[in-house]
Amino acid sequence: MLPDPGRGLRAVDPDDHHVFASLGCAIENMVQAARAFGLRAAPSYAPDARGIQVELEAAPPERTDLFDAIPHRQSTRALYDGRSVPPEHLRLLEAAGNGDGVRMLLFTERQQREDILSYLVAGNSAQMDDAAFVEELKSWIRFGYGDALSTRDGLFSKSSGNPALPGWIGRLIFSQVFTKDGENSKYENQLRSSAGVAVFVSDKDEPAYWAEAGRCCQRFALQATALQLRHAFINQPVEVPAVRGQFASYLGIGGRRPDLVMRFGYGPELPKSLRRPVEDVILRA
Ligand SMILES: Cc1cc2nc3c(=O)[nH]c(=O)nc-3n(C[C@H](O)[C@H](O)[C@H](O)COP(=O)(O)O)c2cc1C
Repeated sequence: MLPDPGRGLRAVDPDDHHVFASLGCAIENMVQAARAFGLRAAPSYAPDARGIQVELEAAPPERTDLFDAIPHRQSTRALYDGRSVPPEHLRLLEAAGNGDGVRMLLFTERQQREDILSYLVAGNSAQMDDAAFVEELKSWIRFGYGDALSTRDGLFSKSSGNPALPGWIGRLIFSQVFTKDGENSKYENQLRSSAGVAVFVSDKDEPAYWAEAGRCCQRFALQATALQLRHAFINQPVEVPAVRGQFASYLGIGGRRPDLVMRFGYGPELPKSLRRPVEDVILRA
């Protein structure tokens, strides 16, 4: 599995950290699916190809809850209902989210959510003040059904709980409706409505570990889905280098890099993001 260089996000992800994390997410789906179809998948980072190689061998088929959750999982950028998660379910989430060289930190106390909120607002404010970030984000928003269906990628407005608009109107009014204060207050409400936050921290700041963090995060998200929990990324605290350093000090993780941040809780389902046709993402030699 290889990164698609044409789809890197130069402003928000200049070192391709999220690219490798996203490969890890996809690899974890593949590992769970392979198991269900009677194959044991062993992924490893291939430095020469800058990709992930997956060895497959026959094994007894095993259909896991995580496999069954794959078609139902979605990033749910909505308000949740504030209910907390029972301890036995938190233990299942913990078991899913930890991995080889990656630790997951779980925060469920009200004060911890408020602490994390201050880094979220600091990161989001810095991004909203960065014209290159805002332009990049705008180029990936699919404002209407037409845009969403013709590209089948990006962030569809309806999947973020916003109305669908003709693309030209969306682009025209974007700067009026997408403001720093508005976005910060949306994130405040969303985080305060959540049951908790998971932070994924890998041992080394290298592509192989970024991908492993992605795998852990995907297992966490699938386990959450199997428990009827919703989840959404709130990665602003780890995307702005200056804020990331302060956030790492708060987490007490020494020199390690916090990779990914996800909130979770109980909430509504939103329209799902579309997928590109599988033929578009398969390379043939
Ligand atoms: C590594 C990684 C980082 C992401 N960071 C964010 C983020 O900070 N905020 C956000 O709203 N979505 C983020 N996304 C979510 C994607 O936008 C989302 O996965 C995509 O819209 C597909 O939707 P789905 O998760 O519902 O399948 C991230 C996804 C990946 C794989």
